[in-house]
Amino acid sequence: MKHLIANWKMYVDTRGGVALARELLRICRGRDVLPDIIVCPSFPALSEMQKALARSRVRLGAQDAFWANDGAHTGEVGPQVLKDLGVSAVIVGHSERRRELGETDAMVAKKCEAVLGAGLTAILCVGEDRAERAAGQTREVVERQLHLGLANVTARDSIRLFIAYEPVWAISGSGNAEPASVEDVVMALVHIRETLAAMFGPSAAAIPLLYGGSVSGENAYTYLREDCVDGILLGGASVKVHQLSEIVEAALRAMKGGTAL
Ligand code: PGA
Repeated sequence: MKHLIANWKMYVDTRGGVALARELLRICRGRDVLPDIIVCPSFPALSEMQKALARSRVRLGAQDAFWANDGAHTGEVGPQVLKDLGVSAVIVGHSERRRELGETDAMVAKKCEAVLGAGLTAILCVGEDRAERAAGQTREVVERQLHLGLANVTARDSIRLFIAYEPVWAISGSGNAEPASVEDVVMALVHIRETLAAMFGPSAAAIPLLYGGSVSGENAYTYLREDCVDGILLGGASVKVHQLSEIVEAALRAMKGGTAL
């Protein structure tokens, strides 16, 4: 199975999101086999999106969640409320939140714990920035983010975990971004798999590992055809119907072992 996570960021409003969801359902219609598709709109769109995706195989996700389910936390949204809205997965520790809002590994750890504790899937984002890459620190940055971000996660809860390798310099919103090479992605994912195995034992083999950063309809298949790439975390391309359609095709082709559809 390949996984496609559509991180809509602040690209679409509620009306645009519902329209996009309809297009996505049209792309999926009539297909026996589909990749696992999770759409993550911004919070205010969740309830309309839940209606739009009801009775479909496309799942609803959220872009963040707070680490508590209730209490005095102005402006925050807890995992349980998201679950009640039909959300089944939550992105945690996206680099835009780490950078723009100062989210630390300690906060990320509490969020992962809370999301998994609510019975939801946590999609933890890790990845080095440009300076860290230039300094040859990719492995140690990713390893540190995994150890600290998953500090409170047990092997039992890790079965609901996804890890997205998203090098910051490859994310399209970050200015002069370029997609990571397939070799870089494979190297990072192999290292992530080894680190998770050391942390969680044999159950780590089942944790889906994703790549994210400037993935498009043109390059999606080059990543997805790699066995170690279990899926893609999409940003910009996930709000463009044509791109989305090509990426779904690429995932299906990869799931069929590369044969033409
Ligand atoms: P991008 O974003 O596909 O637009 O580079 C990926 C992400 O931020 O998750």
